[in-house]
Amino acid sequence: MDRRKAMKVAAGAIAAGGAGLLTLTTAFKPEKQPLPEPHNLEYNPAESSWKYFHLDPSATAQLAYDRYSEGSCMYATIFSVVSQLADKFGEPFASFPIHMFKYGHGGIGGFGSVCGALNGAAALIGLLITDKSVQDRMITDLFQWYEKEPLPKFSPAKPSVDHAPVKSISNSVLCHASNTNWCKESGFHVNSNERKERCRRLTGDMAQKVTASLNDIFTNTYVTNTHSNEDVNTCVACHGTEGKLKNTSVKMSCNSCHSESIGHKIFGDVHYKFMKD
Ligand code: HEC
Ligand code: HEC
Repeated sequence: MDRRKAMKVAAGAIAAGGAGLLTLTTAFKPEKQPLPEPHNLEYNPAESSWKYFHLDPSATAQLAYDRYSEGSCMYATIFSVVSQLADKFGEPFASFPIHMFKYGHGGIGGFGSVCGALNGAAALIGLLITDKSVQDRMITDLFQWYEKEPLPKFSPAKPSVDHAPVKSISNSVLCHASNTNWCKESGFHVNSNERKERCRRLTGDMAQKVTASLNDIFTNTYVTNTHSNEDVNTCVACHGTEGKLKNTSVKMSCNSCHSESIGHKIFGDVHYKFMKD
């Protein structure tokens, strides 16, 4: 047999073997957990001096947008809600140290980690919701919405810059990924006024979204699991605390950081099948 023919035979054997291996591994696929269905989230608030009353989500978005320049994304998100509650109730909201949340800009002090608008929305939930498991559920819903939603959507009454930013999908809760994906989509630099306008409008979006969530939870109309991530559900079936590996406690979109290696694709299922629980 000449060399070229031998190569062809070998390649054919590898391809056939590979196909066999793939069929074999499919037989070892573990049961996928069904995605959690959207359902009404029950909440019985405990006694608290941090009260809430129905806020207009659009007006709150505009307020966040207007105050953005004073302290950026996290500050503006918190200001938009706390200042309205201070107007209505006075103390303790009137003494609430809103200035503290300037730290959250640019993914915490410019570090590029969690988006400040998200951090601000989560802090509001922490301030106003007395039950920790309800807090966690609401924060997850908000974060999973942010990962998937083309943003920014908010359109201000009086824009600070004459520029309507394009929308982009972050697939991540990180300031870095969210901003850099937007730069890729729009062609603007990260330090441009257009990018700042993008984050300013996105802060309006988050203020609007968290206000709507708070309105719903306090009127018992909150529906949870509306943006569950199917990929995350697949990965945590093995890697999460319910699976055998138990080495991750994550709800972030896995594929924003990990791409499945070929080895993992082919051997992950078989390896898993024979692992001890
Ligand atoms: C069928 C169960 C199963 C599923 C589903 C699964 N994995 Fe794994 N994964 C494994 C096993 C088994 C290993 C090897 C673990 C070891 O040896 O400690 C592994 C290892 C890994 C590793 C480290 C080594 C490598 O190959 O890169 C990463 C990262 C990883 N998985 C990410 C993911 C992601 C992301 C998903 C979802 C797309 C996922 N896994 C879904 C079973 C699974
Ligand atoms: C924001 C980025 C990010 C996201 C999102 C993320 N990971 Fe990771 N993951 C990492 C980093 C960084 C490490 C550490 C890797 C290292 O040091 O080699 C890691 C490590 C791992 C490992 C161990 C790898 C090894 O070599 O043994 C597994 C398994 C894993 N991640 C699974 C997941 C799963 C499942 C999800 C989604 C539910 C997820 N990760 C989401 C960044 C991320």
